[in-house]
Amino acid sequence: MHQDIAEILISEEEIRAKVAELGEQITRDYRGKNVLLLGTLKGAVPFIADLARAILLPLEIDYMAISSYGNSTHSRGVVRILKDLEGPIDQKDVLIVEDIIDSGLTLHYLMDVLRQRRPLSLRVCTLLDKGRERVKSVAVDYTGFEIPDRFVVGYGLDYAQRYRNLPYIGILKPSVYEPEDNPQTEHRSPAEKK
Ligand code: IMP
Ligand code: MG
Repeated sequence: MHQDIAEILISEEEIRAKVAELGEQITRDYRGKNVLLLGTLKGAVPFIADLARAILLPLEIDYMAISSYGNSTHSRGVVRILKDLEGPIDQKDVLIVEDIIDSGLTLHYLMDVLRQRRPLSLRVCTLLDKGRERVKSVAVDYTGFEIPDRFVVGYGLDYAQRYRNLPYIGILKPSVYEPEDNPQTEHRSPAEKK
């Protein structure tokens, strides 16, 4: 286990089994459809790569990058598209693939934008759901794991752009973002740096 990780919340094996299960379910639900998997950069990259291979259907993959600005506990709902899709989606069954849903603000905005482009259908698959009260309600169609309201990293999820390459989902040691012996160090919680 990585030295900065306090606890493994979801192991590599558990992730693998869940991805296989989600892939089977999506394969059943999307047979005969014109599937576009829409991954959100950068956090969803490992998940979409594994999930796509567990879906036994012809499909396309594209990515969007959106930035959400927020403070420690709430995104403000100010969201900006940094990278857009390559083409129109009006002939496609779009499945958004997300790493984690917290307040729901980012996803709510993304779905608003995509709905205006009139996809044949629009659904959401998230690996993790913090399950806390949503600031904005969003209907999630496929959920990997409901997790407690703790800051997690790994399997795509970062703290200050690091730890995305860990093969499991882990809880970061507080000492990583709360330096003890240097009062000059800017004190920021993980969410403020996301
Ligand atoms: P929301 O708009 O509050 O749902 O924000 C979701 C985004 O916040 C995710 O796409 C992540 O980038 C980030 N995020 C929320 N919780 C965590 C976490 O525990 N670890 C890493 N990133 C997180
Ligand atoms: Mg994300």
